[in-house]
Amino acid sequence: MAVITGAASGIGSGLARAALARGMRVVLTDIDGAALERFAATLEGVVSTCTVDVRDPASVEALAAHAYATFGQVDLLFNNAGVLIGGKSWEIPAERWAWQMQVNVMGVIHGIASFLPRMMAAGRPARVINTGSMASFIASPYLAPYSASKFAVLAISETLALELQSEQAPVSVSILCPGPVQTEIFRETVGMKADTVSDKTVGMMRDITVNQGISPDELARRAFAGIDEDQFWIIPQPEILDTLYRQRADNMLSRRNPSIAMPG
Ligand SMILES: NC(=O)c1ccc[n+]([C@@H]2O[C@H](COP(=O)([O-])OP(=O)(O)OC[C@H]3O[C@@H](n4cnc5c(N)ncnc54)[C@H](O)[C@@H]3O)[C@@H](O)[C@H]2O)c1
Repeated sequence: MAVITGAASGIGSGLARAALARGMRVVLTDIDGAALERFAATLEGVVSTCTVDVRDPASVEALAAHAYATFGQVDLLFNNAGVLIGGKSWEIPAERWAWQMQVNVMGVIHGIASFLPRMMAAGRPARVINTGSMASFIASPYLAPYSASKFAVLAISETLALELQSEQAPVSVSILCPGPVQTEIFRETVGMKADTVSDKTVGMMRDITVNQGISPDELARRAFAGIDEDQFWIIPQPEILDTLYRQRADNMLSRRNPSIAMPG
C-alpha cells in the first residue's frame, strides 16, 4: 500500500501509475482536489483519494488516520508534494519564502510525524521516500528558497536514516533526487519577464526541464528500482548530478569560492 502526496500532477502521478502497475493499493493526495479526482478517474486499481494540504499538520494527520483505517497498513509513503519559486534572493517576499518552506520542508516533516509512529508500531518493513532534488546538493542561482528547502529535505532524510538505524527500526527512508523531469514544477515562474539575468536564468532552467527532462513514468520506474534495491540515495539521473556534485565538493575541499556549476 502506497501513500503519495502531490499525486495530481507530474512525478506524483507517475509514482501512482507505477505503484498501481505493481498491484499496490494507493492513497493519492493533493491540495488540488479537482485535479486529483480527474487524474484518479484515469487509473485502474484500488485507489483512494484525499484532499490534503501538506503545510497543515492536522490535514496530514487526518490522511494517516484515513490510510490506516482504510487499508490497515502503509508500506510506502512518498512525501512528494513540492513547489518552486524563482527570483533574486533579496527580492523574494517573505511570504513566498515561507510558502516554499512550508510545502517543501514542513510538508515532509508533517508526513514523518504522522506516519513514522504508525509504521514503527506496526513493526513491519515500511519506507518513507522524501522527494529531494539535484537542488539538494547544488545551489542554483535565483532558486534560493527551492535550494534551501531541498537541502533541508536532505538533512532531514539523512538524519532520519541514522536514527532509524540506531533504533534498529524496521522502517527505512530514501531520498529521491530527480534531475529534470517533464512536469509543472515551474508553473509559478511562467509569468516572469525574460528581460533580466535572473528571469532569463530561471527561464532557461524551465526550458531544460520541459525539453530535456525525462517523463514522470520513467522517473517512477527508476525510483521503484532504487526502492527494490533498498537504496537511501535514489539518484535517477546520476550522469548529471555526479559531475556537478564533484565540482562543488572539489570547490569546498579546495576552499575555492562557489562558481556556477555546469555539467561536463
Ligand atoms: N520536475 C522536476 O524536474 C523535479 C526535479 C527534482 C525534484 N522535483 C520534485 O518533485 C516533486 C513533485 O514535483 P513535480 O515536478 O511533479 O511538480 P508538479 O507541480 O507537476 O506537481 C506537484 C504537485 O504538488 C501539489 N501540491 C502543491 N502544494 C501542495 C500542498 N501544499 N499540499 C499538497 N499538495 C501540494 C500540486 O498541486 C501538484 O499537483 C516536488 O517535490 C519537486 O520539488 C521535481
